[in-house]
Amino acid sequence: MKHLLSIEQTSREEIDRILRRTAEFKTNRGRISSRPLAGQTWALIFSKPSTRTRVSFEVGIRELGGESIYMTAADAQLGRGELIKDTARVLARMTHGAIIRTYAQRDIEEFAEFSGVPTVNALTDDEHPCQILGDIFTIQEKRGRIEDKVVTFIGDGSSNTAQSWLFAAGKLGFELRIASPKRYQPTAKLRKRAGGHVICTENLKEAARDADVLYTDIWVSMGREGEEARREAELGPYWINESLVKLAKPNALVMHCLPAHRGQEIDEKTFEAHAQTIFDQAENRLHVQKAILAELVKGD
Ligand code: CP
Ligand code: NVA
Repeated sequence: MKHLLSIEQTSREEIDRILRRTAEFKTNRGRISSRPLAGQTWALIFSKPSTRTRVSFEVGIRELGGESIYMTAADAQLGRGELIKDTARVLARMTHGAIIRTYAQRDIEEFAEFSGVPTVNALTDDEHPCQILGDIFTIQEKRGRIEDKVVTFIGDGSSNTAQSWLFAAGKLGFELRIASPKRYQPTAKLRKRAGGHVICTENLKEAARDADVLYTDIWVSMGREGEEARREAELGPYWINESLVKLAKPNALVMHCLPAHRGQEIDEKTFEAHAQTIFDQAENRLHVQKAILAELVKGD
């Protein structure tokens, strides 16, 4: 595996390898283990804010024996118009890998192409692959094989997390239901690209019925702040609350990628009732990303 740019471009075998290694890293955390990043420095280049992704990568790189430098695009000459392909070729001479959070998916693809160093998507407008790999690990850790599960995504079905779920369903074969108003559902073109067993519906109750997982993300993703009022009005009914949870399987997991906006995509009571799962989910970002980094430096 050379880069991790999207779930779409990651094979089933690579996903399985990452998930297997995640379990090893989680079990062995804190014991003396291998340091595959020893002697390396990785660049974190973030154009959007982050708590979980930044901290889990910085800690993960350190635990694997490497060092990291964090920069925002605004601090770099990128913010003054230096081209991505030039930035990529400079950083490739000085660092061993890049972890990038930005807007356009094509920007990280261009960076990866021109730098040649392992490049990781730490969230773009299109995908959030590290999040969804951590989430799949969490589901399997708690409930076993995802292949047998029904995952219901509630809220903004056009978001980066929903899109990564869509491609994950195509690769792994579980049933994905996306409950969103029509204009927030993935396009037919995207669904065709992803394949898999996917149901997109405006019928929230039907989507939640007998689901194994109820999953949500914020209604207003980073970069969409100007659409806040419209999104609140249109996505209003698409939230997880106690009565929706009752429709799902009795032991259904309620998951949230965080940060949470209580009273929007989830209510306070439901969030707190499922806080253990949600914060396990957050913790697993660390373990899965260590596995991703280890696979990338292995390079095959
Ligand atoms: N879930 C997630 O990626 O969180 P951050 O935006 O805090 O990194
Ligand atoms: N869809 C959200 C995910 C945040 C982790 C966003 O892009 O802001």
